[in-house]
Formats: sequence, structure tokens, C-alpha cells
Amino acid sequence: MTIARRSLILSGLALAACGKQARGQPAGAAAQPLKSLAPFPIGCAVKSDLLADPAYAALLARHFSQLTGEWEMKMEYILRDDGSFRFEAPDRLAGFARANGMRLFGHTLIWYAQERPAFARIDGAGQGFADAYRNYILAVAGRYPGQAVGWDVVNEPVAENGEGLRACLWSKNLGEVGYVVRAFEHAREADPQAVLFLNDYNLEHNSRKRSTFLRLAEQVLKAGAPLGGLGTQSHLTVDTEPGAVTAAVRELAGLGLPIHVSELDVQLKPGVLPDREARLRRQARLYGEAAEALMGLPARQRFALTVWGLRDRDHWLRRGGKPEGPTLFDDAGGAKPAFAALAEVFKR
Ligand code: G3I
Repeated sequence: MTIARRSLILSGLALAACGKQARGQPAGAAAQPLKSLAPFPIGCAVKSDLLADPAYAALLARHFSQLTGEWEMKMEYILRDDGSFRFEAPDRLAGFARANGMRLFGHTLIWYAQERPAFARIDGAGQGFADAYRNYILAVAGRYPGQAVGWDVVNEPVAENGEGLRACLWSKNLGEVGYVVRAFEHAREADPQAVLFLNDYNLEHNSRKRSTFLRLAEQVLKAGAPLGGLGTQSHLTVDTEPGAVTAAVRELAGLGLPIHVSELDVQLKPGVLPDREARLRRQARLYGEAAEALMGLPARQRFALTVWGLRDRDHWLRRGGKPEGPTLFDDAGGAKPAFAALAEVFKR
């Protein structure tokens, strides 16, 4: 049976399963916990302010076994303009994870998109820049020893079009590959246990970008840096080709490292298909395909599947006012067909 046909059946089942669920009680709160069905850790991206919402906290703790900081473990939150650090929010995330028996995943230490004033001021400072870079990584990656199971050490290093690597403040001061190698070395120095990841997006839609990403991973390994896993963000849309996720996961896994489907969401793109049921079916199919792709790997390479946001209302795209619904749960916390599709795959 082809991927497309199996996924079509799966998404139809998923839609039917959701239709049957009890009205009133948000189905998500009653549905069988995903984390008890999944054969690998299942994560969710979390903003600490949402933990104050009891319904949110209960749904998160019920279904997920891993927590990724959506933004508060990044430089934009931690590094103040005067060069000092703040950890209140990441500590809240870590505390919630610990209290609920969830693994903590750190995202992200070094990202081209987060060139903060405290570093911009020392641009070109040579050893001064290198020392500050190391000190930042030691402070952040060293904060949750024994709790953080992994870190996205470098995020989105490959150029948008896949042709080569991004130029950024980090590469300008420490070298195109040098900043990546140093980041992994400093992260290992900070945390001897955490699995250290290279993470990027559009690896499903751009095979050139995937090749460049893999080539960088090989260079980092050849330099002796402790690269321990590859993250494919998997920000998809309902018009993502069937099989694209499977092909990407398979090729990335060829290096032999653990794979993290690290930021899975599927935009409904209301403009693409007029029929909402058809969009929800496609969304369910893609969530199912991502889970199947990870399940198709040897157990040692199935690091985790992380969704990027708990309920549609919490998703970052909704902040722009977009009528989007990319997650597993609707605004009320009800399980959507995508949730049922994941549960179906895990139950096989
Ligand atoms: O909540 C504060 C608010 O109190 C404050 O007034 C405001 C001032 O700027 O900031 C608000 O925080 C924002 C935060 O999202 C929560 O809404 C930050 O500014 C904003 O930068 C942050 O955006 C995050 C973005 O990465 C940049 O860090 C998104 O939540 C997050 O979903 C997005 O995630 C990225 C991954 O890290 C990498 N892959 C792509 C993915 C989606 O863009």
C-alpha cells in the first residue's frame, strides 16, 4: 500500500474518530494520553505564561512527555542588553517539566536570527567576542544539568535557498563552520549528558537545503565536535506533498544520528482548499506521516516528535491574526483529526 493511500485511509478514520467523541467535554482532556501510546517521547513547545491556565497545563501534562521552550530559552529572552542574564521564565518551564515528569529540551543556544545588542557591541572584538560566546553557552546550557535531555545548539545555519550557509554575526566573528563547532564544544563542556542537535526547517520541501544541512553535519562531526542529533523542524502546510516528510526523515537518518521532528505543525492555509473538512483530513494525514516516518527508524534514532504549540489559539501564527489552526487541539482543547491520526499510528 502506498504512503498516500494509507495516509488517506488514516485521515478518514481520524476524522470519523473525532466526530464520534463526546460533545461538551473537550475531547483532548478525555482522550487517551498520546504519551502513553507513542513509542518515543512526544513533546510540545511551551510559553511559560500559558502554564498559569489550568486547562492548558492539564492538557499539556496529560499528553506530552517532553517540553521545549518556545522562546524563553533563547538569547532574545535570556540575554539583556547590558549583557546580564535572566532565567525566570526558563526556570518556570524547567520546574513544570520536572513536576510533571516531562523531559526538558532546550531551544536554542545560537541562532542567526538572534543577534542581541550585547554581542553586537563586541562585534570584531576577536578573543573578547569568543570569550563572551563561550560564557553565554556555558551559562545557558549549563543551567539544567541532568534535566535537559537535549539542546538545539545551532538553529537554522543553512541559507534560505539551501545554497551554502547563512552569514551572521556568529559566522563573521568565529568562522562559517567555526561558530558551529565552537557552539557544540562549549555546550558539551556545559552539559556532559545532553544530546546536542543541529536544527533547521524546510528540509522536507527543499532537497538542496537538506543536502547542505547534511554536509554541514558531516563537517561538524569531522571536526570532532559532539554533534549528537539532527532536528528537522517540519513546519508543514496542507499542500505539503505526501511522502516529502518520509523522504526527508529517511535521508537525514542516513547519517546514523538520532532524529528529532522538532517543531511539527501543519498550517491549514484556508486559501488553498475551500473545504475545511478536506483541509483537516490533509492535516491529519501529514501529522500521521511524520509519526510513521519516525517510527520507521531504528529505536535508537527516534529521539522525539515535538509539536509546535498545544492548541490552535496558542500558536504563534494566530498572533498575526491569521485564521490558522496548525496544532492537534482546537481553541477549546478539543482533539482534532490530527490528534486521532497520531493515536492511530501509535496504536498500530
Ligand atoms: O510575550 C512577550 C510580550 O510580553 C512582550 O511584550 C513582547 C515584546 O516583544 O514579546 C512577547 O514575546 C514574544 C514571544 O514570541 C511570545 O509571543 C517575542 O517577542 C517573540 O519574538 C516570540 O516569537 C517566537 C519566535 O520563534 C522568535 O523567537 C515564537 O513564539 C516562536 O513560535 C518562534 O519559533 C520559531 C523557532 O524558534 C525556530 N523555528 C521557527 C519557529 C517559528 O517561527
